[in-house]
Amino acid sequence: MISPVIRPRRMRSTPALRRLASETRLHPAELVLPMFVREGRESVKITSMPGVVQHSIDSARRAAAEAAAAGVGGVMLFGVPDVRDAIGSGATDPMGILNLATRAIADEVGDALVVQTDLCLDEFTDHGHCGVLALDGSVDNDATLERYNEMALIQAASGSRLLGLSGMMDGQVASVRAALDGSGFQDTAVLAYSAKYASAFYGPFREAVQSTLTGDRRSYQLDPANRREGVREALLDIEQGADVVMVKPAGSYLDVLADVAAVSAVPVWAYQVSGEYAMIEAAAAQGWIDRRRSIEESVLSIRRAGADAVLTYWAVELAAWLTEGN
Ligand code: PBG
Repeated sequence: MISPVIRPRRMRSTPALRRLASETRLHPAELVLPMFVREGRESVKITSMPGVVQHSIDSARRAAAEAAAAGVGGVMLFGVPDVRDAIGSGATDPMGILNLATRAIADEVGDALVVQTDLCLDEFTDHGHCGVLALDGSVDNDATLERYNEMALIQAASGSRLLGLSGMMDGQVASVRAALDGSGFQDTAVLAYSAKYASAFYGPFREAVQSTLTGDRRSYQLDPANRREGVREALLDIEQGADVVMVKPAGSYLDVLADVAAVSAVPVWAYQVSGEYAMIEAAAAQGWIDRRRSIEESVLSIRRAGADAVLTYWAVELAAWLTEGN
């Protein structure tokens, strides 16, 4: 019989040793909760995302306060407007749902967590694309930048501290940065969804924001086949002044995340998207996987791959589990 000299199992043999040897730890402060806010007084459940709702402004304020109490690092707000049009006018209306919700939540939580907003037109356009369309129906990159600049100013004025640029237009970071700086918003930070892939895992999100999109976003979001291109996009955004870069979705793109984390000079975040949430919830509801362990493992894996912070719909629940362990 061979007796191994090197025994890696030694360090796994007790809970205390495993705890000491752990390379990656989760903390509530590095979790960000995405939240949907609709018009009207009632919250509405999102069928494909059990446990997630479209909030009213009032319930969103309460949920943001709960997230702050749980120690969560931030909230990322999405608006669900009643009325949409070709240029997404609701996005730049000071009385538009996202801007009103931002003000209400910023007033509620103060500096207890970082209030962040999705800066993209898709929730506000009647065609559902992330930008405005040219006459031939294609998404007009440079005309869209003008709209993003206007959105940036109104979101910053509404109390958003970190603008989540998720539209995947070329030059969007430089454009928004210049618009902010030109209007006295030097301290409003920019989170670039740099490596955002054209993913099937956004499926439930489309229900969450009642998207009207027909077709797809492949002419602006990245091809899931491309790893190097994700790194290129992140480097371009850093050059343009991004304060944070992001990879999205997370679980199926851990290679891209690790690559970006290896070269980035700014924090790297990842977005565990609606489909990733729905898959675990659905399998757990069937009793096919252990819900809590799956949630913890999925977020831990995203951190291990290189994310400094993670956007996850489980942020508050996970934060509570992390604190109860201490
Ligand atoms: C665009 C946006 C999307 C998501 C976040 N920002 C949808 C898309 O690009 O199709 C998806 C988030 C999720 O699936 O959880 N405003």
